[in-house]
Amino acid sequence: MSKEIRTPLNAILGYAQILRADRSLGEAHRHAVETVERSGNHLLALINDILDISKIEAGFKELALEDFNLGDLVGDLSRMFELRCRQKNLRLEVRAELADRFVHGDQNKLRQILTNLMGNAVKFTDEGSVSLLVQIAEDDRFRFVVTDTGPGIASNRQQEIFEPFQKEGTNTSIGGTGLGLAIAREHVGLMGGELLLESIPGSGSVFSFELSLPDAHGAPPVASEQNFTSVTRLLPGQQVRVLVVDDVDENRGGPRTDPAVCRSCRGFQPGWRRGSGDGTAGRLGSGLRRHPYARDARG
Ligand SMILES: Nc1ncnc2c1ncn2[C@@H]1O[C@H](COP(=O)(O)OP(=O)(O)OP(=O)(O)O)[C@@H](O)[C@H]1O
Ligand SMILES: [Mg+2]
Repeated sequence: MSKEIRTPLNAILGYAQILRADRSLGEAHRHAVETVERSGNHLLALINDILDISKIEAGFKELALEDFNLGDLVGDLSRMFELRCRQKNLRLEVRAELADRFVHGDQNKLRQILTNLMGNAVKFTDEGSVSLLVQIAEDDRFRFVVTDTGPGIASNRQQEIFEPFQKEGTNTSIGGTGLGLAIAREHVGLMGGELLLESIPGSGSVFSFELSLPDAHGAPPVASEQNFTSVTRLLPGQQVRVLVVDDVDENRGGPRTDPAVCRSCRGFQPGWRRGSGDGTAGRLGSGLRRHPYARDARG
């Protein structure tokens, strides 16, 4: 189900990105394409939240455990909210005591929880500061605290905001869908913690939780790839073959045109060929070791 919903949206977002990269685009059209992309991303976030809450309500509760660098995650969050805070003239404080640890846990769920808590803090605060603090509570127990100097939450709403679709009532332009905290509370619970709220209306809010994140099993990766952004050109004489396999015409680039991926290549000349569903992909794929390979997986 989730694939059926996300696939057409990925085609919309992919084409919007390709169009935005077109330098011949006039300003009005660029503005229009940027609006399509921004609204598409918003819609994707809503769909992801609705799919998440449906999974939770259907009893599908599973952790995806992996080794990850907690310091990198905190650094990503700091970068993610830097601009939004600057735009609202808010001070952003991120303190991660000894958080540069390679740990074992569900990185995506932790990121999703903190993104929503930080997102709320920035969204509802108009003056002052937003902060994220990561402390070691004991051994492998970490405490995460998100604080803001926003309007706070009245005591009679402090329970209900954790229910799905409970959102900012009076100002519909500020609140989102009202799913973020419901998902965050479930995720924290699934990881063995409890999402707590302390708030004094008029002074701000503090959301906090503690989690056990044991040390990672393996050694940390040697080279950090966090500064990697995109490929701008290939070295002279280098060749890369990309195989795109998808049975949906729109995802490959439409029935009569070259694949979308070819049109987004800059600085090098792509070649392409189309298979006919008769095993061409398998034959081409077998010669593609060490080359990029995009495949539409069923399931
Ligand atoms: N830091 C905060 N300060 C003041 N009010 C808050 C804060 N965090 C949450 N709330 C209140 O709790 C409601 C629910 O928050 P939640 O994150 O679930 O939804 P949302 O942010 O409105 O939408 P979504 O997260 O789905 O985009 C918010 O609409 C707001 O009324
Ligand atoms: Mg939210």
